[in-house]
Amino acid sequence: AEPELAAQFEATVRRKDRIEPRDWMPDAYRKTVVRQVAQHAHSEIIGMQPEGAWIGRAPSLRRKATLLAKVQDEAGHGLYLYSATETLGVSRQHLTEMLIAGKQKYSSIFNYPALSYADVGTIGWLVDGAAICNQVPLCRTSYGPYGRAMIRICKEESFHQRQGYELLMTMMRGTDEQRAMVQESVDRFWWPALMMFGPPDDASPNTEQSMAWGIKTHTNDELRQRFVDMTVPQAEALGVTLPDPDLVWNEERGAHDFGQPDWDEFWDVVKGSGPCNAQRIAHRKRAWDEGAWVREAAVAFANANDEEVPA
Ligand code: 3HC
Repeated sequence: AEPELAAQFEATVRRKDRIEPRDWMPDAYRKTVVRQVAQHAHSEIIGMQPEGAWIGRAPSLRRKATLLAKVQDEAGHGLYLYSATETLGVSRQHLTEMLIAGKQKYSSIFNYPALSYADVGTIGWLVDGAAICNQVPLCRTSYGPYGRAMIRICKEESFHQRQGYELLMTMMRGTDEQRAMVQESVDRFWWPALMMFGPPDDASPNTEQSMAWGIKTHTNDELRQRFVDMTVPQAEALGVTLPDPDLVWNEERGAHDFGQPDWDEFWDVVKGSGPCNAQRIAHRKRAWDEGAWVREAAVAFANANDEEVPA
């Protein structure tokens, strides 16, 4: 029976159709989908920290309300993605414990601090902009629940990106100090945003298999290139410069040539020695420990009412 099931799996992937939770799938497929979706979910939850710190210090009620809505969206994206992993038989409790124990990753970008209010705009424009470049193709990822989660999430990411860009445009129309604050923020976030797409393809252990299984539809470098080409005209319209002396339009390629991020820095941050890694995990652990009573009460209530309690 397994050979037929394996043939069915291959045929489904080949015709770019969806693999659903109850379909037969290679163990390695299940494992790598859990790996990617769990780390994506962790990224959404950890990503609430840098921006959340600015909610209480937003300069107006309108900016505060917009930022609050965005940070709440990120929490929802995380829960959506943990639900997608639960269709593969892993619980968010286990995944959170793996994250806190440093056994699972989250996006490197959130290990950089949000030092000025302009960072709220830059994170929306560049970080959520990069996330959109990476996530729109994931709407067609082969694992059904993940692709469907991405469709909803991408719509909200577009709001995140637009509100960040509009915030920066407002500041660029302000004083010289505000313009300098925006430029300083862009200088700090540009290279870490390029690192969000992962290592170069020739240093990416997962890309080949993920492409073969239709988990990824584009490689890291392809999406990084797409992001650069999309962002350059936006930077020009904003009036900021991107801190890459090698960034130039290449007529022949019909794309921009650009410099290489510092991949030693990237691997250092991924391996845990970025500016904020310890603080991000400590914050997540504190929230997890302080919230234990809520989870216990919910389980006790569900048991008392004979409701089905997820593991
Ligand atoms: N940060 C942390 N770890 C990274 C990374 C990054 N930017 N890029 C790669 N890595 C890790 C990979 O997880 C892998 O380690 P693992 O095998 O232990 O998981 C290793 O480095 C090698 O990288 P690969 O390219 O081989 O790994 P992938 O094929 O998984 O590609 C990826 C990496 C492009 C990030 C891919 O996993 C992906 O597309 N993930 C889904 C998108 C995602 O996670 N986005 C997070 C952005 S933040 C966000 O969405 C929040 C939004 O609100 C801003």
